[in-house]
Amino acid sequence: MKKQAKIIGTGSYLPQKVLTNADLERMVETSDEWIVTRTGMRERRIAAEGEFTSDMGVEAAKKALEKAQIDPQSIDLILVATLTPDYVFPSTSCIIQSKLKLEKAAAMDLQAACTGFIYALSTAKAFIEAGLYHNILLVAAEKLSSIVDYKDRSTCVLFGDGASACVISDQGKGLVIQQAVLGSDGEQADILYMPGGGSRHPTSQKTVECGMHSIKMEGKETFKHAVRRMEASSKECILKSGLQESDISWLVPHQANIRIIEALAKRFSVPKEKVFITVDKYGNTSASSVGIALDELLEQKKLSSGDNLLLTAFGAGLTWGSTVLSNE
Ligand code: ACO
Repeated sequence: MKKQAKIIGTGSYLPQKVLTNADLERMVETSDEWIVTRTGMRERRIAAEGEFTSDMGVEAAKKALEKAQIDPQSIDLILVATLTPDYVFPSTSCIIQSKLKLEKAAAMDLQAACTGFIYALSTAKAFIEAGLYHNILLVAAEKLSSIVDYKDRSTCVLFGDGASACVISDQGKGLVIQQAVLGSDGEQADILYMPGGGSRHPTSQKTVECGMHSIKMEGKETFKHAVRRMEASSKECILKSGLQESDISWLVPHQANIRIIEALAKRFSVPKEKVFITVDKYGNTSASSVGIALDELLEQKKLSSGDNLLLTAFGAGLTWGSTVLSNE
């Protein structure tokens, strides 16, 4: 029988420190009214000094492992989705492997910006169905505050820190990963990127002076692509899963902007109250956003057997992707 990849436990972690719109009003020329009406965000979380991406990832992972009720030593692969790794190398997944003492696990990072959680889910599904691994720990964690320019009002209001995790297994009961549809368009790489710190512009006094180590974004362009790409990949994914839009019980989108989420929801026959939203509390936490929303959904709402969840995300690259999960 074909192996099925299932999410058997989820977890999330948000740092304690809250950065409110009122705080941002004191930092840049902005207003609570502008931020709320343009983005739907009211506050976001910021990692403590000395708290790194791997630390947040470890906290989310511990919760996911506990909920999955499996022996942590049975984890045979750790996949970490992040665009804010602890180091350029080694991978953050290796740091997490060491902190959790998962001695039998291979470890690798995956970079698909805000689509990281969905790219990683799809990778885990393929590994499990191929029989290469049996229990995969997926961690999506971001310390975006480390690459945000808090003098740039067009980006600093948008991003927050946080982490999510899940255990994907070929055993047990959970959410079956039915299908995943991924995409990319590198032609648009420069509408959302960080210019400095890579091999093209290695860190130097000049890159620092030119402010090349923070997020640069063309907001309007990004917005347009986001809605179009998430809609198309979601529709394709629903079709490939042999489902209809009316079969979707919950839409769990990337939490980049309430207006993007509303524009997307309008294109589907999913009722408003079935669209899960965290953007008001946490802002855009990039790769970890869909996983945080999924974990909160599972904590707050009782899913019925046969419920189908549509997860969709979009991010720098450009990258996008959607997946359908079915509750057993
Ligand atoms: N406070 C007050 N005014 C502001 C602020 C602010 N924080 N930021 C920008 N403005 C001003 C601009 O300067 C501009 O003023 P002007 O008209 O005098 O030039 C005006 O507000 C309108 O700016 P726009 O950029 O046109 O505003 P828009 O309605 O497009 O909203 C936003 C901006 C919120 C960034 C939106 O475009 C957006 O959400 N884009 C998508 C972002 C996204 O999805 N990112 C996802 C991927 S993230 C990842 O992969 C890491």
